Parts: sequence; structure tokens; C-alpha cells
Amino acid sequence: MSEVEPIPAASCVLITGGSRGLGLELVRDALRRGAKVATFSRSITPELQALADEHPDTLFVGSVDITDDTAVKQFIKDASAKLGPIDSLVNNAAIGQDSMHVHTSPDRIAQIVTTNLTAPLVLTRQFIRHAMAKAGRGRIVMVTSVGAQRGYSGLVTYAATKGGLDSAMRTLAREMHGRFLVNSVAPGFFASEMSSVLGNEQLSAISRRTPSGRMVTPENIAPVVGSLLFDDTNLNGQVITVDGGSSI
Ligand SMILES: NC(=O)c1ccc[n+]([C@@H]2O[C@H](COP(=O)([O-])OP(=O)(O)OC[C@H]3O[C@@H](n4cnc5c(N)ncnc54)[C@H](OP(=O)(O)O)[C@@H]3O)[C@@H](O)[C@H]2O)c1
Repeated sequence: MSEVEPIPAASCVLITGGSRGLGLELVRDALRRGAKVATFSRSITPELQALADEHPDTLFVGSVDITDDTAVKQFIKDASAKLGPIDSLVNNAAIGQDSMHVHTSPDRIAQIVTTNLTAPLVLTRQFIRHAMAKAGRGRIVMVTSVGAQRGYSGLVTYAATKGGLDSAMRTLAREMHGRFLVNSVAPGFFASEMSSVLGNEQLSAISRRTPSGRMVTPENIAPVVGSLLFDDTNLNGQVITVDGGSSI
């Protein structure tokens, strides 16, 4: 029987939206595991800048809007000139929603779809073209949401974008056969700027209804993303839900 080499662990990973929330924790975790990391968001927070100062040779940060594909392309060029070939991608950057569908303007619907679905798909294409040519093999993780699996009021367009990414992920896993492992991590609600629209009342109701007794945190989610990036799991084309069991 011929031995097929496992797809190598991420060594240089592009994580979108690393300025705060889950993305910042994913950047920290990847650096702790010894990977080189490139990350962009529209603004660079003091926390991300401090991390960049601490890791001048292994962390590359930029101020880029994911919907600007020329700027994204240039970022990949600049990051790989500094860090070497990028072999893995985490599509984490996204915007939230907190409005009933009938009250969500067509412009806002378009903005959510462009930021959360179109731009990550365009970026993933740009990444694959870069990584196929330079690194050859690697890992891709989509950060999606339990909102794609269960109905939550106020999240119609957001849920559609996350479900769209989960579907794209499965098909991409098949297209990439043998060169990239492609998976989604779907968190339940966790405290961040995105979920700050939820009041304390709603947040404690979510904790009470979670079978594990507590809401997830970015620190719970990062090891799952880390495993998909760095371990030889052979997981491919899967959605891993991290929500303390609240969606069961
Ligand atoms: N929080 C939750 O309860 C929850 C639940 C399930 C899934 N998720 C998912 O988890 C991921 C992280 O969410 P989070 O709660 O950590 O959100 P967050 O705190 O709002 O952070 C979002 C990140 O994305 C960046 N970003 C947003 N729009 C961007 C754009 N146009 N271009 C470039 N970067 C952009 C933000 O930076 P800038 O604003 O500076 O650009 C920030 O770094 C998202 O995919 C989200 O959908 C969150």
C-alpha cells in the first residue's frame, strides 16, 4: 500500500480580523504554537500593536478592509515578502446584525453579504492562488456560527452568509483534495464587540440554557481552530460546533 503524506501543519497563517475578539485570541494562540502570522483589519488596536511589537519577526499586521480586493492582494504580497509563503488561512473577520429582516435596509443586507461572504470567498481564491504556487499544501478554516444551523431572530442575513461559507467550505474541501484541509468552526454566542448588542439579561439567559453551564469564550474556541491548523487530524469538510452544547 502506498503511503500518502499528511497535509503539513500550518507554518505561516493569515488570520483575518485579528484586531480584537476571537481573531486576536487566534493570533495569540498561533504565535504561541510557533507559527508565523499575518493579520489585517480596518483598524489596528493597541492590543494588536503591542503583540506586533513583541513579535517583530513572526507577526505582520496591516490596516485593510476585506472588501477592497486590491488592498487584500497587496497585503498578501507584503506579508509573504516579510514572513515567507503563507500556507494557511483563517477567515474570521465579519460584521454582525441585530435587526429583523423587514427592518434591515437593502444597503445593509448588501454590506453584510459583501463583508461576510463575498469578500472571504474572493480572499480564499487569492490565498489559494498564492499558496498553491508558493507553499503547495496547507489548511483553511472558516469561522462561521451556530446562527447558520439554528434560527435566531435578528440574524437573517448574517445567518445566510455563515451558512453560505459552510456550504462553500464543503465544496472547497472536495476541490482541494489532498492539498488543503478545509473546515469550519461554528461558535455559539461569546462576549465580544460583535455580541455587545445583547444585554446582560440575554447573555445570562444564554449561559443558563447552555448544557455545559457557561457560554463559550475565545479561549475555548482557539484550541479547536489551532487543532485544525496544526494537528494531523485528517478532519476535512466538517463544521465543528463550539457552543457548550446549546444547539443540541
Ligand atoms: N461574538 C459572537 O457571539 C460570535 C458567535 C458566533 C460566531 N462569531 C464569529 O466569530 C468571528 C469573530 O467575531 P468576534 O465576536 O470576535 O467579532 P468582533 O469582536 O466584532 O471582531 C471582528 C473582527 O473583524 C474585523 N473586521 C470587521 N469588518 C472588517 C472589514 N470590512 N475588513 C477587515 N476586517 C474587518 C474587525 O476589525 P475592524 O472593525 O477594525 O475592521 C475585528 O478585528 C466572526 O466571524 C463572527 O461572525 C461570533
